[in-house]
Amino acid sequence: QQIACIFDLDGVLVDTAVYHYKAWKQLANSLGFDFTQLQNEQLKGVNRMRSLEMILDWGGMQKSAEEKEELASLKNSWYVAMINKMTTDEVLPGSLTLLTELKSSGIKIALGSASKNSSIILQRTNLAHFFDAIVDGNSVTTSKPDPEVFLKAAEMLNTEPENCVVFEDAQAGVMAALAGNMKVIGIGDEEHLKETHLIAKDLSEITLGKILALRNN
Ligand code: G6P
Ligand code: MG
Repeated sequence: QQIACIFDLDGVLVDTAVYHYKAWKQLANSLGFDFTQLQNEQLKGVNRMRSLEMILDWGGMQKSAEEKEELASLKNSWYVAMINKMTTDEVLPGSLTLLTELKSSGIKIALGSASKNSSIILQRTNLAHFFDAIVDGNSVTTSKPDPEVFLKAAEMLNTEPENCVVFEDAQAGVMAALAGNMKVIGIGDEEHLKETHLIAKDLSEITLGKILALRNN
């Protein structure tokens, strides 16, 4: 059975993790508190509402369901204003080369993102055409570390989870991939990426050869 690749979006293919951080920080500050870089690592890969709940928890705040909806959409409006100005320059190093190599080798490619804003990001950065399947925050009911997003991607690619290799920058995403019985390549700092099958600083360190080698482990 052929291998298939599933890519997380924010922090793996594009440099949007920094915008999420800015917008959440602005929201926390507006509520009178702050959170650390280390806490921010825990937000990566986690969906919007769950992220807000974690942040409110850190600030020792309780809000009604209605207030939470308002705060989440306020954060999103700041975030969308930033991503609306994105350019192809914000595609992370190695993304284009690797996606092109996979595509020309006939490897199926899916997006497995928690974001409800994936389509605008893929459009602004010119990446949409690489994907055979797109699963994002609009098509799942649970948040990473639940494996739903990746299992759906495998299903849409018509392949089994054990044939899939996931690319993730977030601990929650690594856990989701492992829970889905997939191989996972961590992108970023080793200290935040435990239990991956391979770690790279960015996608420029990854080739099809390295991906295929994972299978036999
Ligand atoms: C990604 C990011 C998270 C973000 C989530 C939802 O997983 O890593 O930081 O909270 O997507 O994004 P959204 O664009 O729907 O708010
Ligand atoms: Mg990510």
